[in-house]
Amino acid sequence: MWGRLWPLLLSFLTATAVPGPSLRRPSRELDATPRMTIPYEELSGTQHFKGRAQNYSTLLLEEASARLLVGARGALFSLNAHNIGDGTHKEIHWEASPEMQSKCHQKGKNNQTECFNHVRFLQRLNATHLYACGTHAFQPLCAAIDAEAFTLPTSFEEGKEKCPYDPARGFTGLIIDGGLYTATRYEFRSIPDIRRSRHPHSLRTEEAPMHWLNDAEFVFSVLVRESKASAVGDDDKVYYFFTERAAEEGSGSFAQSRSSHRVARVARVCKGDLGGKKILQKKWTSFLKARLICHIPQYETLRGVCSLEADTSARTHFYAAFTLTTQWKTLEASAICRYDLAEVQAVFAGPYMEYQDGVRRWGRYEGGVPEPRPGSCITDSLRSRGYNSSQDLPSLVLDFVKLHPLMARPVVPTRGRPLLLKRSVRYTHLTGTPVTTPAGPTYDLLFLGTADGWIHKAVVLGSGMHIIEETQVFKEPQSVENLVISPTQHSLYVGAPSGVIQLSLSSCSRYRSCYDCILARDPYCGWDPGTHACVVTTTGANRSQGSRTALIQDIERGNRGCEGNRDTGPPPPLKTRSVLRGDDVLLPCDQPSNLARALWMLNGSMGLSDGQDGYRVGVDGLLVTDTQPEHSGNYGCYAEENGLRTLLASYSLTVRPATPAPAPQAPAMPGAQLAPDMRLLYVLAIATLGGLCLILASSLFYVACLRRGGRGHRQKYSLGRASRAGGSAVQLQTVSGQCPGEEDGDDGEGAGGLEGGCLQIIPGEGAPAPPPPPPPPPPAELTNGLVALPSRLRRMNGNSYVLLRQSNNGVPAGPCSFAEELSRILEKRKHTQLVEHLDESSV
Ligand SMILES: *[C@@H]1O[C@H](CO)[C@@H](O)[C@H](O)[C@H]1NC(C)=O
Ligand SMILES: *[C@@H]1O[C@H](CO)[C@@H](O)[C@H](O)[C@H]1NC(C)=O
Ligand SMILES: *[C@@H]1O[C@H](CO)[C@@H](O)[C@H](O)[C@H]1NC(C)=O
Ligand SMILES: *[C@@H]1O[C@H](CO)[C@@H](O)[C@H](O)[C@H]1NC(C)=O
Ligand SMILES: *[C@@H]1O[C@H](CO)[C@@H](O)[C@H](O)[C@H]1NC(C)=O
Ligand SMILES: *[C@@H]1O[C@H](CO)[C@@H](O)[C@H](O)[C@H]1NC(C)=O
Repeated sequence: MWGRLWPLLLSFLTATAVPGPSLRRPSRELDATPRMTIPYEELSGTQHFKGRAQNYSTLLLEEASARLLVGARGALFSLNAHNIGDGTHKEIHWEASPEMQSKCHQKGKNNQTECFNHVRFLQRLNATHLYACGTHAFQPLCAAIDAEAFTLPTSFEEGKEKCPYDPARGFTGLIIDGGLYTATRYEFRSIPDIRRSRHPHSLRTEEAPMHWLNDAEFVFSVLVRESKASAVGDDDKVYYFFTERAAEEGSGSFAQSRSSHRVARVARVCKGDLGGKKILQKKWTSFLKARLICHIPQYETLRGVCSLEADTSARTHFYAAFTLTTQWKTLEASAICRYDLAEVQAVFAGPYMEYQDGVRRWGRYEGGVPEPRPGSCITDSLRSRGYNSSQDLPSLVLDFVKLHPLMARPVVPTRGRPLLLKRSVRYTHLTGTPVTTPAGPTYDLLFLGTADGWIHKAVVLGSGMHIIEETQVFKEPQSVENLVISPTQHSLYVGAPSGVIQLSLSSCSRYRSCYDCILARDPYCGWDPGTHACVVTTTGANRSQGSRTALIQDIERGNRGCEGNRDTGPPPPLKTRSVLRGDDVLLPCDQPSNLARALWMLNGSMGLSDGQDGYRVGVDGLLVTDTQPEHSGNYGCYAEENGLRTLLASYSLTVRPATPAPAPQAPAMPGAQLAPDMRLLYVLAIATLGGLCLILASSLFYVACLRRGGRGHRQKYSLGRASRAGGSAVQLQTVSGQCPGEEDGDDGEGAGGLEGGCLQIIPGEGAPAPPPPPPPPPPAELTNGLVALPSRLRRMNGNSYVLLRQSNNGVPAGPCSFAEELSRILEKRKHTQLVEHLDESSV
């Protein structure tokens, strides 16, 4: 257990040691809980494509012809972008021959995963042809494919310069004006490089006297049309994003004394670069790179990058997903940062770094910079001075370029800090699109893929991100490898090892009331007061129509606009519950939003608070313990979110006086004979759990909020009053919500008394084995809904799931109130059972 705490403490210490505005803010503030959780079972309206191949990792969307082209292992597919699962797809089988595969195996490569033709590159070459490259069992091949006929040509091209040998290597490639711009680890030796091929001037990076790239893993590249509307006749540029081993280790204020210190980078080259004439012949003369920081030192492993509005460089910006850089694999967390192109440009126009031979380290270059400025593109002013191309540049400049590829200043995120720091999630890919709302403002909508097959849809707000929903798109946990948005089809395509999924960009009809619609804060959704429905603001390529401007939206704050609107949705039916005095009763109420707080009202007034008068407020209902006649009345369950309140369920509870019963211990009853043994068991269980709980509470205080999300299971979040307040005391409570390995039959009918923070899984070996669980009760139809209780207790015993919450309300919240709670519930449980037997015998 302490082993788990170390990385946390360590990262905490390092975080406080490094200056910077981003690190003063507690990371909790930048975490965001997805508002809705859509598990695989509840997924609807999706299309699925899966051929015989696997590894559907290369996607190319052709909007004009509405085709989605897919590169997989041993195959290429052309799918109908309207509906990828309609069965009208075309397929090219393209696998390495068995001889090639066995040769690959002989070279020591894995014949189960690596010795295949993984298609890594797929782009439009010209009006008639596509261009594709595959690893081809460690002998890369490329082919120009007739897009219409969709068949392989008879002759192939050598792929050595264009495609990685190793299918698992990072790769990014573009075709610009017929030239291939690819960045990956080339050849059998896995040399990192940025290359231009199929071009009159093939170029690559410099290797001597120093490597411009160090063990680089490429993530993304994009062409930014900086020539368009440029007043200085600037050139278009290609930007590359990657991680590499830090050469400047031990220098600057970001020094880390770690052995394999890898950092994120952004590099750029000019499209018009032709290389040097004598110096830097067939090498880039415009290569510059800079460090990309998000939330250092913890988040430095770049996983995905997307660019928005790359067509208009004045507005171009990037989003990047980073994961935690740590050797502790149990810790998963991700960060999202936004970067403006203007900031990247400023860094490339700033001071350079230099390797100082004397002290053998990189430091800021303080000397004079030759003219024209090394690494710049050819602009009008250079042309006017006779520098028509990079080949005309003076030797002095090219010599400088050779030795100064790295800029001194790092690229910092917009506003100097991350937009999101998400615990328990490993993002593997992201994409985004600007969405213009009918009222005018444009919001960036991001789709983030996780390592276990979920998609997070998030809207970027000024201060951070709001995660609209998390959707489980693959039943089997698998890494999301590619994401493509089609505004025309209003679809998102997801590429993963097992297949391709097509999802709608929005599902506004899910929101039934005006409040629900604005609380979602989905820029695609607005409430139409005319039709009383939450509708999509834009459909396909068509911009919003005039009538749509009346739509109610509040992306910024998510709570204004529905005042005076009667569209609160159909009222929930009134359910009646009748119990005997002294019984416990659970009034189920499931909050569809993970951000909502349950609020209970009795007789239309008085918010019931947890722990008061025998009430326990939980994430899935209200538990009334030891009911008294005063508990009778009408109960309303409200969801309180973002200052808005909506009614979810209403109950009419009647507490009947207990009939003068014969002594429960009557010898005639079989249940009663068991009672003393049972009681002994309970006492034993309680005592052990109490001890266990003490140990856990003390050791887990700091781990409180490092929750591991349940994979492939619905994750329950709750934002109670306590967790929001950032409290002082720690309280252990029973677990609600579903956990891995749990039965599925008792949704919402579980034990109550649960409001709070985070679920922590504690390995069984860390604690003494708990006693055998109490025997399950006979199945019963109890009106008080406590049927499911023992199974939940069993889960706690067997799997040691403990809900930890921080609380600072004045209620006695000692670490062991869990045991007290448990004993009380068990006591009641027994009582209820006996009462039920009485009922049966009296019939
Ligand atoms: C991979 O190689 C092993 C050992 O040579 C062989 O037994 C196995 O059949 C091969 N698998 C495939 C899929 O070729
Ligand atoms: C496109 O490229 C292919 C392969 O290089 C070539 O055969 C074809 O003629 C080109 N088509 C056009 C329209 O340029
Ligand atoms: C291909 O998919 C398999 C699972 O089907 C996965 O184990 C493997 O890592 C994938 N390979 C690549 C190169 O993505
Ligand atoms: C650059 O181009 C201009 C006009 O095209 C030409 O007059 C000039 O000689 C060229 N300069 C060099 C150095 O090639
Ligand atoms: C877009 O609008 C035009 C007319 O305004 C209509 O004909 C067309 O069907 C619309 N397209 C879509 C995809 O809604
Ligand atoms: C709520 O109303 C019921 C009857 O309508 C009444 O019996 C009960 O005492 C009321 N409870 C409270 C706390 O006002």
